[in-house]
Amino acid sequence: MVKLNSNYGNLKESYLFAGIARRIREYKEANPSADIIRLSIGDVTRPLAPQVVNALQKASQEMGSAETFRGYGDEQGYGFLQEAIRNYYKTQAGVELEASEIFISDGAKSDLGNFTDMFDTDNTVLIPDPVYPVYVDSNIMNGRKIVFIEGNEANGFLPLPDENTKGDIIYLCSPNNPTGAVYTKEQLKVWVDFAIKNGSVILFDAAYEAFITDPNLPRSIFEVEGAKSCAVEFCSLSKTAGFTGTRCGYTVVPKGIQINGVSLNKMWLRRQTTKFNGTAYIIQRGAEAVFTPEGYAGCLENINYYRENAKIIASTLDRIGIWYTGGVNSPYIWLKCGMDSWDFFDLLLKEANVAGTPGSGFGKCGEGYFRLTAFNTREKTLEAMARIEKVFANLKKSN
Ligand code: MLT
Repeated sequence: MVKLNSNYGNLKESYLFAGIARRIREYKEANPSADIIRLSIGDVTRPLAPQVVNALQKASQEMGSAETFRGYGDEQGYGFLQEAIRNYYKTQAGVELEASEIFISDGAKSDLGNFTDMFDTDNTVLIPDPVYPVYVDSNIMNGRKIVFIEGNEANGFLPLPDENTKGDIIYLCSPNNPTGAVYTKEQLKVWVDFAIKNGSVILFDAAYEAFITDPNLPRSIFEVEGAKSCAVEFCSLSKTAGFTGTRCGYTVVPKGIQINGVSLNKMWLRRQTTKFNGTAYIIQRGAEAVFTPEGYAGCLENINYYRENAKIIASTLDRIGIWYTGGVNSPYIWLKCGMDSWDFFDLLLKEANVAGTPGSGFGKCGEGYFRLTAFNTREKTLEAMARIEKVFANLKKSN
């Protein structure tokens, strides 16, 4: 009889954002007139930049003509997009890459999950807490031992290794989802040195790099010396260019990473050519447009819109007197709710009809905290924050 992967039995019943969506749905069914505003999953609301739309339309036309039609593309992506990303790294971060170190995907989430195929299940995985839940869940699925390194207010939610830290596969996310904290170059150097000394690999999630406003903060781990021998970087156009529904991302696997004489880049290429047939041509043309000066300016307009939303959320929390961090180099505001995170979720949903994300969904260290996203529309963000302010004013009165 067939045997199932019993590791799935060790997962929580549902993925964090699927669980939240279910709770919102149930609440709405019980309260049909409730006008719920979602500041929970980080899903964008601004339309694609016009330059991207034009490129998508042009590519669609090409697919409708025998002369320009395309079938299978290279699994690792089209050269035109690899080249555009290579140039982006050079101009934005001063990082030199080879085009063949860049693999185009349908988003960072898939690659972050799939990359675990490269490693034996015997490895110990080191994951900061709190963090994006995909790292934990994908490794639970593979039955790996996971150890956590604590992020807290004292270390600015940017944990660093010490002499007792152990981990073969290390996940880092900067700007951090959920806290918005960003590692400095000096802090990343500590991680890179640790990985080199211990023969570990860093899986660096840079999905929110475009939100960094401080020019002194690194947008790529490859800005740090030595990183090309121990780090793989995952990035996505979901938040940079509003591609949550369009789907495109990229993973940089440097050729300098050799493990027991085996090139990780070659292994990933082998894996992708076997299990992946590439991202759609039309989408890759849209992605290429993101990296043109005009296209990037269009995307930045949207990013600035979300930054303004983050300011609205932050100033409301200031008025209420709630401690928070994030929102400056990141689209997420991480606040201290002063109670069980899920109780706070229920309170906001019931009293303000606003949904957020409980901090404990990102790990034990997230308990007592709560995440709000700046990705909703201006109108809904203003309305949500007005409602939350009112709830707190009423709570104050009744105490
Ligand atoms: C989030 O809300 O943390 C993200 O949008 C989820 C994701 O990117 O998969």
